[in-house]
Order: sequence, then C-alpha cells, then structure tokens
Amino acid sequence: MNHQQLQARQQELRAQYQSVSAQKLNLDLTRGKPSTEQLNLSDELDGILAGNYLCHDNSDSRNYGGIMGIPEARQLAADYLQTTPVRTMVGGNSSLQFMYQLVTSSLYHGARGADSSWQKEAAATGGTVKFLCPAPGYDRHFAICEALGIAMIPVAMNSEGPDMDQVEALLKADPLIKGIWCVPKYANPDGVVYSKAVVGRMAQLGKIAGANFRIMWDNAYAEHHLVDNPPELANIIALSEAAGTLDNVLVIGSTSKITQAGAGISFIATSEANLAAFAEQLGIATIGPDKVNQLRHVKFLKDMPTLRALMQRHRAILEPKFKVLLEQLNKGLKGKTINGKSLGDWTTPQGGYFVLFNTQPGLADKVVKLTAGAGVKLTPAGSTYPYRKDPANTNIRLAPSFPSLREIDAAMEVFVLCVELATIERELGV
Ligand SMILES: Cc1ncc(COP(=O)(O)O)c(C=O)c1O
Repeated sequence: MNHQQLQARQQELRAQYQSVSAQKLNLDLTRGKPSTEQLNLSDELDGILAGNYLCHDNSDSRNYGGIMGIPEARQLAADYLQTTPVRTMVGGNSSLQFMYQLVTSSLYHGARGADSSWQKEAAATGGTVKFLCPAPGYDRHFAICEALGIAMIPVAMNSEGPDMDQVEALLKADPLIKGIWCVPKYANPDGVVYSKAVVGRMAQLGKIAGANFRIMWDNAYAEHHLVDNPPELANIIALSEAAGTLDNVLVIGSTSKITQAGAGISFIATSEANLAAFAEQLGIATIGPDKVNQLRHVKFLKDMPTLRALMQRHRAILEPKFKVLLEQLNKGLKGKTINGKSLGDWTTPQGGYFVLFNTQPGLADKVVKLTAGAGVKLTPAGSTYPYRKDPANTNIRLAPSFPSLREIDAAMEVFVLCVELATIERELGV
C-alpha cells in the first residue's frame, strides 16, 4: 500500500472504530475463568455425601486434622500427578496458595530447618534470592516473587519450553537462583508443551543448582485438552527420582478447572522428605484442610477415566470458543501485511485456556488501549512478563473461556480492527 492507500484505510478503520465505540460494548477477554456452563458440569458435588462423612480410614472428614489430606484424595492426586500417594499432599481450594506457601516456607523458614532458608543464605553472602522466570509466563507466579522481594530473571521460551542452555548457564553461575517457574503443559499463556528433552534436562537441574533449589512445576492444565490424541508430557517425578533430584521438584495441580474454580482441591507431589518438612510449616498455619470437600471430590471424580470423561465435556464447551476466536483472527489478519510486514501472529493451542497474540514490536499496549476504548477488556500488555515489562511490547493474552460465543465473536471483531488500526497508524506516524 502506498501512503495514500494507507491513509484511506486508516480513515475507514477509524470510522468503524467510532461506530463500534458508540455501541458501548462491555466485553471481557481477560482472565481464564471457567464459564457458568462449565461450572454446572460439577453440580453433583452439592449433596453428594448425603450425610456420610466417613473416609476410607474411618476418620470423620468433618473434624480437625489430616494435614496431608485424606487417603482417598491422595490416591486420586497421585494418579493425576503420576506418582504414589506417599509423595502427595492434598489441600484446599487453591494451588496458587500452595505455591505461595511453598515459596515463603523455603524463603523464610528453610526446606530443611532454619539454616537452609534462602533468605539466610542470601544474607550470609550479601546477595539476593532470585528465580528464573520463563517468559511469557503466568502473571500470578511473578506476583509471588515480586511480593516477596525475590528478584526475577526472565528466560526465553521457545516451542519446546524454556531455553535450557540459558537456564543451565544461569544456574551454574549463581547459587542464589533458588527456583524456576514452569507451566509444563499448555503453558499459560503460549500453550507450549515442554518436550521430552526439556523435561529430561529439567530433572538434572538439581545437580548444577545451588542448595535447596526448587522447580515449581505448576501442571495446572495436565488434562485440559482441546484436541484428540493430545501431546504427552514426560513424567518429571520419575525422571527426577532416577536422577536423584526429587527434592528439587515440586509438582503442583488442582481441580480449579475441572470442578469448581473457587471451591476445588489442590495437590502437591514431591519427595517424602519435602512433604514432611512442608507439613510441619503448614501445621502452624492450619490444623488441616477442608477434608469434607476432598471427600466430595473423590466421590464425584472417582478415578482418572471418570475425570477424563468430565474433561471431554469441558472440551465440548471450550473448543467452539477457541474456534470462534481463531476464526476471527484468521479472517481478519491471516496473510495481511502492511508494507511487507505481517500484522501479527498467534498460537493455536492444543489445550489449556489461552491464545497468545503477538503484535508487531512496540504495539501491544496501544492495541490493548484501543480495544478498551471500544469496550473490550484485555489483559494489560506486559502482564505475561516479570515486572510487567514485555521487552518487545508484543504479547497479548486472549482468554475465551468465560464469555459466550457471541461475545467472543464481537470482542474479536473489535480486536482485529484495533490491531490493524494500531499498525497502520504507527506506519503513518499518527
Ligand atoms: C498456570 C496456572 N496456575 C495456577 C492457577 C490457579 O490455580 P488455583 O485455582 O488452583 O489456585 C492458574 C489459573 O489461571 C494458572 O493459569
């Protein structure tokens, strides 16, 4: 397009933008929340115990105690996380809370007694506790580090997972790097599934890292497929056990996007020694988790085949939403260029809750601002990076799970318009 053609297109798009803005839309593609229809799939949880509160071991789920979780929930969690019940702990409604507690516990109290605390080691050496943050990543992981004063080092993500050359080099150089955040399957937000080679190298990290290093393996989307024949994730627990590094791995999950996002159960899998040390810390904050809800979940989810059948019903609701979102991107932007440069690229995830869109460098914040002006809320630009700083200002996370198909369609029409408008206006220097 020559300058005149660009100007004509810009005016056309501006006119469309004004008319959309006048409609005062109120659409939201921000957080990856399950929709009401998805939540309804687990309504059977309510009343499922029918007055029978006894656990397999004859304990009363209504009473205090049981910091590790009830035996039948630990069995279910072990099957879900591909390990054994003795290596699992089951908690309350939030795996994020578990992650926060695991980090604070290692930071302040030490995973192996007070002398092993990260903070103490940093103070003794005059350094700062640091975490590796494959980016783009999950904003709430980064928020935990920021809130606790843990310095974040971004690590590049590629199609197989984090750049392991970079991870290993950084770890070798600095024993105060005490953790790495990982969402190994259908990563939030880029949908990447870590390759076998990456998981294998992850399992070896404990051998090169400083003392008490922890891999935060947040497998939040382990069974959340959007395709037939989903990709497999290598089992980090088995690999770490073989490598003698199980103490360095904390596998985390929950039923937040299986049953009820605000009222599910959460899991940790790691070495028995880690669990024992963590249980001691946790026992100061609580006498035990909500075991009634754990029992409800076991009665409802039963086993992995039943859980997987439920996930297929989630998929039936979610897949059309991703389809509508991707159709709008394909229709509005695929193959389109301005002065030879494409208007953006995006992921086609095989599972999980997000599509990641990349604008041309330097435009993500402008697109988000434009869409907000037209009544479509998007996750703030930069959110997917430590300290909210996307160095290239390109990432926009799109979350289609909560809105209706019609709302997604309408929101994406606005989005596509704003991407083209922002790109043309930059080209014109407007
Ligand atoms: C990667 C990841 N981990 C954890 C969570 C939150 O999990 P929970 O509800 O168990 O706290 C989310 C929610 O979006 C997530 O995307």
